[in-house]
Amino acid sequence: MPTTDRGGAIRLSWPGRSAIRLSWPFRPGLLDAAWAVFTAINLVALLAFPGWETIPFHVIWISFTLLYGLRIWAIGPTLGVLGVVIAATAAGTALAVGRGSEPAVELTEVPLMAAMFCATAWHARRKLAAEHNSRVVSEENARVLANQRRFLQDASHQLRTPITIALGHAELLARGLVSQQEGHDIQVVLGELNRLRRIAERLLVIAAAEGPEFLHLEPIALDSFTMEILRRWRPTANRRWQLGTLDKATVPADRERLGLAIDALLENAVRHTGDGDVIRLSVVAVGYGMPVRMFIADSGEGIPPESLGHIFDRFRSGDSGHPRGTGLGLALVQAVARAHGGNVMVRSRPGQGSEFELVLPGPRGPLALPSAAPAEADAIDGKLARKP
Ligand SMILES: Nc1ncnc2c1ncn2[C@@H]1O[C@H](COP(=O)(O)OP(=O)(O)OP(=O)(O)O)[C@@H](O)[C@H]1O
Ligand SMILES: [Mg+2]
Repeated sequence: MPTTDRGGAIRLSWPGRSAIRLSWPFRPGLLDAAWAVFTAINLVALLAFPGWETIPFHVIWISFTLLYGLRIWAIGPTLGVLGVVIAATAAGTALAVGRGSEPAVELTEVPLMAAMFCATAWHARRKLAAEHNSRVVSEENARVLANQRRFLQDASHQLRTPITIALGHAELLARGLVSQQEGHDIQVVLGELNRLRRIAERLLVIAAAEGPEFLHLEPIALDSFTMEILRRWRPTANRRWQLGTLDKATVPADRERLGLAIDALLENAVRHTGDGDVIRLSVVAVGYGMPVRMFIADSGEGIPPESLGHIFDRFRSGDSGHPRGTGLGLALVQAVARAHGGNVMVRSRPGQGSEFELVLPGPRGPLALPSAAPAEADAIDGKLARKP
């Protein structure tokens, strides 16, 4: 028989399989009892109203089929209840035929109704089995994904120490080398080791982003946070650093992770602009509880439309004419944004610049945003040419 655990979840026995659980808002025992009483009343009616037997007869079978659809008992109890219903309705119909209020052909209704019930029960069980299988598959997928994430985290973590040691030794070697060729070679080694270190660090963050303890949220005033970032970046490159709209907005965010994401965006902005180009940061808040948008815009080289759909992919680095990147900067930005319940989008036009929009949910909770970050091909339309 099915058993019920706390909260009204039904545990059903399933031949050769693990138990299947169904949720139901009220206690299944009560439902069964109510149906038993209802059926008894219909049986009495079947006997008490000659000439009208067909109505209680069909009501019994319909209510039985409905009840099964809601409860889907295990096979044993189902066959037991089916046997009782067959016996009771057959006896009632036989009595009606005996007293002449129903023709004998009515007796064929019993096996027909039983066959209809069996067909319905078969479909219900098939549906249940399909749901069970899809739950098993999604649990297995979740387990595989969690394993992959843990593996990636462990691998990135393990790589960091040997890379740091190798870098230290390579730097020492570089100081002692005198010939031009040797100096060039050791610079290549240093460059590649630095790249490896960046890959390991970024992969570690990206892999951790889907984990439950990735974020340490605190209220962050984005206006002062943005000014602080601008102060930090201003001396690093000869650009026209500007503050755009700076609405007052406080959101729950992880200061360190959010800082990493904005640094990755600013690093790109610096790399893809030249001396005197504009790099502008803005914070736009529409109202309390609404998403807050951070804009990181530059008037640099822009992104070709055919690349826009791929720049958030991992290891995508369209860096012609630039030092080879890891292609993980924007993947990291996206991972951090999504971990916050937000997203990141881009608008760009070659030769006119790019604008990245980081959307963060307000204090009231996560955004209902599409799962894929849309990479819009719209132009900035001269936005960067305007003074704030
Ligand atoms: N502000 C920008 N202007 C023009 N192109 C950009 C800009 N930001 C990103 N891109 C393009 O998107 C690509 C992916 O950027 P991403 O930050 O993911 O990788 P990367 O910068 O190549 O590598 P890394 O960040 O590890 O150094 C870049 O290679 C570049 O082609
Ligand atoms: Mg980058």
